[in-house]
Amino acid sequence: MVFKVFSRGFSRRQLAKVAAGAALGLPAASARTGEKSVLLGSGQPRGAAGAGFPGGFLWGTATSAFQVEGAVNEDGRGPSIWDAFAHRPGAIVDRSNADRASDHYHRYKDDVALMKAMGARAYRFSIAWPRVFPDGGGEPNPKGLDFYNRLVDECLAHGITPFATLYHWDLPQALQDRVGGWESRDTAKAFGDYAGYVAARLSDRVTNFFTINECGRFVDAGYGGGPDAPGLKLSQDRVNQVRHHVALAHGLAVQAIRAHGRTGTKVGPAENIVVCVPAIETPDNIRAAEIATREMNAGYLTAILEGKYTSAFLAYAGANAPKFTAEDLKIISSPVDYVGINVYTPHYYVTAADDAHGFALLPLPASFPHTSSPWHKIDPAALYWAPRHVAKLWGPKAIYITENGTSSSDQPTADGQVYDLDRIMVLRSYLSQLQRATAEGVPVQGYFLWSLLDNFEWSDGLETRYGLYRVDFETLKRTPKLSVSFYREVIARNAVA
Ligand code: BG6
Repeated sequence: MVFKVFSRGFSRRQLAKVAAGAALGLPAASARTGEKSVLLGSGQPRGAAGAGFPGGFLWGTATSAFQVEGAVNEDGRGPSIWDAFAHRPGAIVDRSNADRASDHYHRYKDDVALMKAMGARAYRFSIAWPRVFPDGGGEPNPKGLDFYNRLVDECLAHGITPFATLYHWDLPQALQDRVGGWESRDTAKAFGDYAGYVAARLSDRVTNFFTINECGRFVDAGYGGGPDAPGLKLSQDRVNQVRHHVALAHGLAVQAIRAHGRTGTKVGPAENIVVCVPAIETPDNIRAAEIATREMNAGYLTAILEGKYTSAFLAYAGANAPKFTAEDLKIISSPVDYVGINVYTPHYYVTAADDAHGFALLPLPASFPHTSSPWHKIDPAALYWAPRHVAKLWGPKAIYITENGTSSSDQPTADGQVYDLDRIMVLRSYLSQLQRATAEGVPVQGYFLWSLLDNFEWSDGLETRYGLYRVDFETLKRTPKLSVSFYREVIARNAVA
C-alpha cells in the first residue's frame, strides 16, 4: 500500500483527505528525525537569502482563459467541458457560472494596464482551445485566435512578456462527446495539432509556451470522481490511461512547437508538483524527500523528465498500469526548455526510513494552519523545497514558478479598501523561501503570482477570491487590494518587501 496514491495521482482536494502517512500504510517516522542539522546544498546557511533575487528575475501574474474571459458565446468560440459542467445543477458551490466571469475578453486592455501599473514584466495567460478550434480540430476559427493576437500585442506594447499556456482545463466539448476526451489518444493527437497551429501563428511574438496546466489536478478531479469537469468517476485503470494520454499530449505539443514555432521558441510543462518537505532538515531526510518527490510525481513529471515510469509506480499500479509503448515514452520525454511548477501547499512531510522505499510520510496534525481554502496548508518552505528538488533531481536549465498565491476572504471595509493582510503574510513568507532557493543557485527565473484578478474559481464559483485585484462581479469594477502595493514593492526592490 505504500504507493496507494500513485495510480490516482494527486489533486490538492484529495490530498487534504489523504495527508496522513498512516493512511497510506507508510512506515511511521523513526527516531532519525532528530539527526544533526546541516548546511544546505551549496553550503550556504539558511539565512543567506537576504540579498534579494537575481538580476533579471521575471515578476508576473497569471490567469486562465475559462476563469477570467467570459464571452463564452462570442466570435465563434465552441463550448468546453467546463461550460456544460458549470451549468450542471449542484456542480458549483455558489451556483454561479463563468459565462461572464471577470470579463477579461472585453477588458483585457484595462487589465494589462493594471499589470503595468504594478511594474509586472510578464503575464501568464491561457489560450482557450475551443476559441481556436471550436470543434476540437478540423476548421480553425481565426476570430478566436485574433483575441490572443490582440492580447499579446497589448502586452508587448506595455513591455510585458507574454507566456501562453495551451491548456488550462477547458477541453472542447466536441472532443469529450466524440472520443471521450482524454480517454482517447485522439485527444492527445488533436492537442499536438492545436499546439502546432498556435505556435505557427503566435511565436513571432510569443517566445514562451507552457503545454498543460496541472495534469495532477484535472485528471483525478475530472475523471476520477473529483469536483472538476467533465465530472466522471472512472475505474483506476482508465484514470491511469487518461493520465498517460495527457503526458503524451504534452510531448506531442512540445514536438509540434519545435516543428512549427520560430527558432528559439521555448516550451515546458506547468505542473502542480507534489511537494515533499523534509520534516527536519537533516541530510537523510532531505535525501528521503528527494526520493519521495520522484516517486510521488512518477505518473507525470518524472515520466516527462526521465522518459520512464518508475518501477515502484508500475509495481504499485499492477494491472491498473497505463498501456504504453517505448515510442510513447520517447515522445513524452521530448526535451523541454524549462520546468514550470505551481506551488501552494506542502503535500507531504517526509523522514528517512530504513526500508526499501527509503522514505516515510508523516501524518498532518488536525491543527495545521491553512488559508481560507482548506486544502491549502500554509508552509512557506514548500516554495523552497519544490524548486530545489526539481533542480537536484532533474537539473533543468530553468524553472518558473508558474503559480503561487492564496485565497482570502477579501471583504472591503467601510472605506471601500480590501486589507488582505493574510495574503501579504502568505506571499511575504513564501517569497522569503523562494529567495532562499535562488540565493543557493536554484535556477528559478521567474514567478507568476496567482492571480491578477478574482475569477471563476472552478467548482467554488465566484466566492473564493485569489486576485490581487478584487472584482465586483455585478459591476466588474476592479479594486486593488493592499497586496497590490505589496507586490509592486517586491517587484521594484527585486526582493521581499
Ligand atoms: C491552481 C489552478 O490549481 O490553483 C488554478 O491552476 C486555480 O486554476 C488555483 O484557480 C486555485 O485552486 P482552487 O482549487 O482553490 O480553485
